[in-house]
Parts: sequence; structure tokens; C-alpha cells
Amino acid sequence: MKYFISGANGQLGREIRDSSVKYPDSVFEFHGSDFDIRDNIKLTDHFKDREFDYFINCAAYTDVENAEKDPENTFKINHSALKNIIGICNKKDITLIHFSTDFVFNGEKTSPYNENDDPDPLSVYGESKYRGEQLIIEECKRYIILRVSWLYSVYGNNFVKKIIDLSRKNDTLNVVSDETGSPTNAKDLAQDILLITEQKLNKDSMNVAELYHYANAGCVSRYEFAKKIVEYAGIDCKINPVSSGYFNFMAKRPKNSILDQSKIIEEFDLIIRNWDDSLQECIKNIVSDEK
Ligand SMILES: NC(=O)c1ccc[n+]([C@@H]2O[C@H](COP(=O)([O-])OP(=O)(O)OC[C@H]3O[C@@H](n4cnc5c(N)ncnc54)[C@H](OP(=O)(O)O)[C@@H]3O)[C@@H](O)[C@H]2O)c1
Repeated sequence: MKYFISGANGQLGREIRDSSVKYPDSVFEFHGSDFDIRDNIKLTDHFKDREFDYFINCAAYTDVENAEKDPENTFKINHSALKNIIGICNKKDITLIHFSTDFVFNGEKTSPYNENDDPDPLSVYGESKYRGEQLIIEECKRYIILRVSWLYSVYGNNFVKKIIDLSRKNDTLNVVSDETGSPTNAKDLAQDILLITEQKLNKDSMNVAELYHYANAGCVSRYEFAKKIVEYAGIDCKINPVSSGYFNFMAKRPKNSILDQSKIIEEFDLIIRNWDDSLQECIKNIVSDEK
């Protein structure tokens, strides 16, 4: 297989790079933000004489708070730039693998969200990602959209690393207890993407056009998640539960954004780890990388 990966220096992109070593017969081209997905001329030129099976788009505007202040740029990256990618994928018969978010939902449902539930985003980021999904569904011939939630990794900036950092500097931390979701280790996601593209999809099924939910198994509140993070990192810090109104966030977040991943599990026969086991392994790696 031959892959083009955009946004490759983000947390998911770096995990895909790590997982790619298991597939020495495949070719992976990784491109960071210097290869701007908004630059249609550069993209078109690059793909002119090259063939790929998959375009994995890890590029995104992911700063949920700043998106509220910069909607124009957020929509350019998460929505309109996808037109460039879709154009290339359609022209060259490439299957697009794209990522969306649990933030497309308003959080009012009291059970896990499945792919048939109606999105109703509460934030600029959520809206931009939802519009991006719609564009792909309407215009792209071959795609897989994976809605993922609460992504973290040994790489990049994420909730897990922020809690580790802050809990080392403070005796107590206030963490929101009225938001529940499904944490997702980007390492598990990266491994499963390549398992799907390398082993589960053949030349016929690459003609896919589907949206799936993907997250580690189980769910937890941000407060309980933070308690586990400090416990596994061996840090002595008291975590206090507070309501989401305590922080003056500009972006509204869904209170419930648990994702039901049964569709992707059944379709591709996946075994997805529990969030707790996966978190424990990730923190072990974060702590050992620091030594
Ligand atoms: N993080 C989460 O909790 C979460 C949750 C649900 C879904 N997702 C989705 O999962 C996907 C991967 O997220 P992630 O956490 O790996 O994101 P990330 O770490 O923020 O990485 C995104 C990468 O995209 C790059 N980028 C931004 N604008 C670009 C552009 N115009 N052209 C090319 N590259 C550009 C960024 O580069 P710079 O850093 O140089 O700007 C960054 O390296 C995204 O689609 C995201 O929306 C994330």
C-alpha cells in the first residue's frame, strides 16, 4: 500500500509513523504543516505524477478554545481545505481516511452516541468538524471518517500530559466532573487504522464510503480520568471535582460524548482495549521517556 499522511507531526500523525514500521512492504509519505492542506496548487502538483492508495488526513485546527476567537482559520482548515483533498482523492482514486470528533454532539443524550444520532455542535471547532464531515460525505467517492474522542498520546499537547504537568506543580487541582466521555489512546487508533487498511480492506472494499465511531472501550468523567492519571503517574496531588461552569471556557463542551464503537468493531472485527489499560501503558511510556 502507498500512503500520503498530512498533519504528520501532530499526536495522531506521530503515532501512525510509529505504527508504520510494522508494514515494511508499504510506502508512507509523512508531511507536516509545511505541506499546507489549504495550498491546492502545491497539493495538486505533488499528486500529479504520483499514485497513492490512501490519503490519511491528520491535519486539523484542534485548539478548541482559540477556535472561538478564530473561526475563519478554523473553518478554512477543518472545512474548506478538505475540498482540495477530496478533489485529489476523487481524481486519483485514493481512499481518504479522515478524523472527526465527539464534539459534533450536544451531549444531551443520556446513553452512548452512535453513528445514527444527529449532530448538533456547541462550539466553533465542533461545527467546523461537522461541516468537514458533511463535505466529505457529499463529495468524496471513497472515504472512511472516524469520529474519535478525548485523544491523547505520549506526543503533543493533550489532557493527560496537561494533568501530569499541572499536578506536579500543584498540591490540588480542580477538574470538571460533569463531562463524561471515552478517552482514546492515539496509539491504539493508529494501530487499528493500519490494521484496517493493510489487512481488512482489499481492492474491492477500498471503495468504501462510511463514517464510524472509534474510542477506547468504557467511559469516565474528566474528574475520574484525572484521578487515574495522577495515580498512574505516581504524583501526590488531590483532584477536586468542579462543575464545568467553574472554568470560564469560551467553547461549550458536550456533557456526555461517550461514543458507541460497536459498528467499527463488528465491521472490521477489532478488539479495542479498555481506556484504563491503555492509559496505564501510555503513562508508563510518558514517564519512562522523561528519564
Ligand atoms: N485531540 C483530540 O482530543 C481530538 C478529539 C477528537 C478528534 N480529534 C481529531 O483527530 C485528528 C487528529 O488530532 P490530533 O490530536 O493528532 O491533532 P494535533 O496534534 O493538533 O495535530 C494536528 C496537526 O495538523 C497540523 N496542521 C494544522 N493546520 C494545518 C494545515 N493547514 N496544513 C497541514 N497541517 C496542518 C498541525 O500542525 P501545527 O501544530 O504546526 O499547526 C498539527 O501538527 C484531528 O482531525 C482532530 O480534529 C482530536
